[in-house]
Amino acid sequence: MAQEILVAVLIVSLTSAALATLLAVSERFLSDYGQCRVLLNDEKEITVQGGKTLLSVLSDNKIFIPSACGGRGTCGLCKLKVQEGAGLLLPTEEPYLNQQERDSGVRLSCQVKVRNDLKIQIPEELFNIREFTCKCAEITDLTHDIKQFRFELVEPDKIDYIPGQYIQLLTPVYEKSSEEVYRAYSVSGDPADKNHIELIIRYVPGGICTTYCFKYLKVGDEVRFNGPYGQFRLTDTDSPVVFIAGGSGMAPIKCILHHMKNNGIKRTAVYYFGAKKVKDMFMQDLMKKFQDELPDFKFIPAVSSPDPDEKWDGQKGLVTEVVKRDLKNAAQHEAYLCGSPGLVDAAEKVLVELGLTEDKIFYDKFA
Ligand SMILES: Cc1cc2nc3c(=O)[nH]c(=O)nc-3n(C[C@H](O)[C@H](O)[C@H](O)COP(=O)(O)OP(=O)(O)OC[C@H]3O[C@@H](n4cnc5c(N)ncnc54)[C@H](O)[C@@H]3O)c2cc1C
Ligand code: FES
Repeated sequence: MAQEILVAVLIVSLTSAALATLLAVSERFLSDYGQCRVLLNDEKEITVQGGKTLLSVLSDNKIFIPSACGGRGTCGLCKLKVQEGAGLLLPTEEPYLNQQERDSGVRLSCQVKVRNDLKIQIPEELFNIREFTCKCAEITDLTHDIKQFRFELVEPDKIDYIPGQYIQLLTPVYEKSSEEVYRAYSVSGDPADKNHIELIIRYVPGGICTTYCFKYLKVGDEVRFNGPYGQFRLTDTDSPVVFIAGGSGMAPIKCILHHMKNNGIKRTAVYYFGAKKVKDMFMQDLMKKFQDELPDFKFIPAVSSPDPDEKWDGQKGLVTEVVKRDLKNAAQHEAYLCGSPGLVDAAEKVLVELGLTEDKIFYDKFA
């Protein structure tokens, strides 16, 4: 009996191995789609080697599409309208496309393989996205797992971005990754300094880009990024503002605060910043400085579970609980939220309970 089971297992294993080899061989030899033409906005035509994703062939041609998850099909940002040649919608695209988008031919460019000629439409503003080469100028520890990275731009040597926007940093091939990958990071620095960008990055164990940044990147190293991207930005109304962030979600809020200071924006603003432990808290002095410099700005840091040996005189509890206790009524506010999807969703729920309508809530989820 045991021998029969062993033989059956062996047959199944050998068949699977044979099928996998066959698939690999057919992908290598049969999936040669040759040269394909991609017509952009009925104007520009590029010729590309078939077989790669639409996102990659566009990036190879220096046309950069927002792709915060690096093409894994999990951010839904790489949408494009494909008028001809994309084939059937894939199950991986379905969760990100509403009926109207599906009807009009919108697709996730990281999921669409170029197998024949294509006709696509790209929003004009994406043609302005540039690729930048820069040099790592400074790395500063902010907490045990968050660092600030300052990059000096080399080529081009200046950048214009709207405070709140993000860039996509290119992780080169290195020991832990056999391919180049892009990851999104919100710009955190002072937008008046057009010759540098600053990022605040939290280390993700096992993460490709953060492992590279934390354990391999050194001051003086050259890196590339493209951008700027994103719609997260301060509106030009007079409504009071509530900012809510946690961890590296500090980045775009800090950038917006620099912008408010630079431009003498006098809006009433309160910033609730959450950390789990006191050791996770950072940039409190800078935030207090903004409190002194901006006419009507208040910074309220909150720690949810300080260790017994950690001294903390500030607000205690989850940042969302602190918002609920402190703000009481948010009906007249505009809210800007940033951080993990969990934090953003919880904060949105609390703000709606406090009377804020969803159209006044803006966010970037660091998914
Ligand atoms: C608009 C935007 C702005 C952002 N801004 C910031 C910012 O300012 N600061 C910041 O720190 N972060 C920011 N992020 C998050 C950032 O883009 C990265 O997602 C994060 O740094 C992790 O990247 P990584 O390459 O290190 O990890 P990844 O390699 O992407 O891995 C992340 C985690 O997923 C696991 N994983 C890897 N591959 C897979 C897979 N195929 N399936 C399932 N799990 C997998 C890994 O083990 C790891 O635990 C932002 C994200 C967005 C969308
Ligand atoms: S790049 Fe993230 S879904 Fe396509």
